[in-house]
Amino acid sequence: MAEGPAVPPRLAGSARAPGGRPKGGLGWVGSEFEVIVGSVAHGGHCVARHEGRVVFVRHSLPGERVRVRVTEDRHAAFCRADAIEVLEASPDRVERPCPYSGPGRCGGCDWQHVTPAAQRDLKAAVVREQLSRLAGLDVAVTVEELPGGPLRWRSRARFAVDRSGEPGLRKHRSHDVVLLDDCPITTESAALAVLRQHWPGAGAVDVSVDSTGAVTTTRLDRRGHPTSSRVVRPGGDLPTEPTGRAARRAGGRDWEVEGTGFWQVHPAAADALVAAVGELAAVRPGETVLDLYAGVGLFGGALAPAAGLEGRVVCVEADEAACAAADANLAGLPQAEVWQGEVDAEGLGELLAELGTAPDVIVLDPPRAGAGPAVSRLLAGTGARAIVYVACDPASLARDVAAFGDAGYRLEGIRGFDAFPMTAHVECVALLVAAS
Ligand SMILES: C[S@@+](CC[C@H](N)C(=O)[O-])C[C@H]1O[C@@H](n2cnc3c(N)ncnc32)[C@H](O)[C@@H]1O
Repeated sequence: MAEGPAVPPRLAGSARAPGGRPKGGLGWVGSEFEVIVGSVAHGGHCVARHEGRVVFVRHSLPGERVRVRVTEDRHAAFCRADAIEVLEASPDRVERPCPYSGPGRCGGCDWQHVTPAAQRDLKAAVVREQLSRLAGLDVAVTVEELPGGPLRWRSRARFAVDRSGEPGLRKHRSHDVVLLDDCPITTESAALAVLRQHWPGAGAVDVSVDSTGAVTTTRLDRRGHPTSSRVVRPGGDLPTEPTGRAARRAGGRDWEVEGTGFWQVHPAAADALVAAVGELAAVRPGETVLDLYAGVGLFGGALAPAAGLEGRVVCVEADEAACAAADANLAGLPQAEVWQGEVDAEGLGELLAELGTAPDVIVLDPPRAGAGPAVSRLLAGTGARAIVYVACDPASLARDVAAFGDAGYRLEGIRGFDAFPMTAHVECVALLVAAS
């Protein structure tokens, strides 16, 4: 199965050190060879070996025999390559539903060539491997399917715009824009709102669809700053400006989200995560709950009814606009408060002192980089009965689980969710409890 046009081997394309060899690498860019593909690794590729070096192979699957072309070679220990021809295919391989995906094409997806069930197994293997390598734990992990299928789930996306104003997505690890007519993982209304238009002078366009079907497009300049927004509501209303808040629904409640603020991209993800957090936290009446990195108050608001009026829920979030939306979202829950502040070693120390009582339950949902060892240690120091960690990066989760482990907390359970089908991303919810 050929995977792209045959290009003669060439040793070009990398930064050159004074001696003529690419900096750090061995000058393999453009060379082609055959490998047997080994296990999956974090980042949407699998691991192979060639002449003693590790080769991270995209567009492949474990067990396959493929011909690869090296795409990047900047390190002595490893290089990156695309599988350009499949000589022995895995039973998990399928035709890609997206015509723009494949070696050298759009870099938006990683696993278009894999059955959805096998994608979830690959993600589970990555979470397991990260926990083993970075936290020294041997944990069984399952990644659960969300409703809606593997396509048309993306309710929020950033599309790139080329110099002539045409929209698309970037190639993998490149600034080159692949022009697109459609993006099959993005909801149809969002894809159409951006990809069938011209955007002269723009650097990128953000698009999101809320649960009422309103589509917001935000134009960004070449430095990534928003310059204008418009909302088109279902029924063909005239475009309005500015953005305002979007309406979302999860956990049986309505939520207001700032136009550019954080909300789960998959329309079923917020519901699934709220249910998982609720189950693992098992909040009891009268308990004190901390919701850290709270966004618009999703988890705090969902847990507040279980804490009851005699309980207390404190949502902590750095972003001012998200805090304002959280205030509005939690208005009917007198036991819930929103504190604007940084979750870092200093901010958290002050916050815990101001709280005046030790939290029973802590929920944290940090950005991709994770909470870090200092915050993890401080949270473990509270002695909370349950710490529920929502993670969008399994490597950061594993590093923080190791820090919690050093501070006396053990991983009691973990659930994975396929909140980003066709990509290598996975969302996890982990429960940490004091090791007895
Ligand atoms: C992954 S989002 C989670 C939001 C929310 N839990 C949800 O599910 O909708 C992370 C949030 O953390 C906030 N954030 C990032 N760094 C922060 C920090 N150091 N302190 C407090 N909030 C932070 C971001 O503004 C964002 O709202």
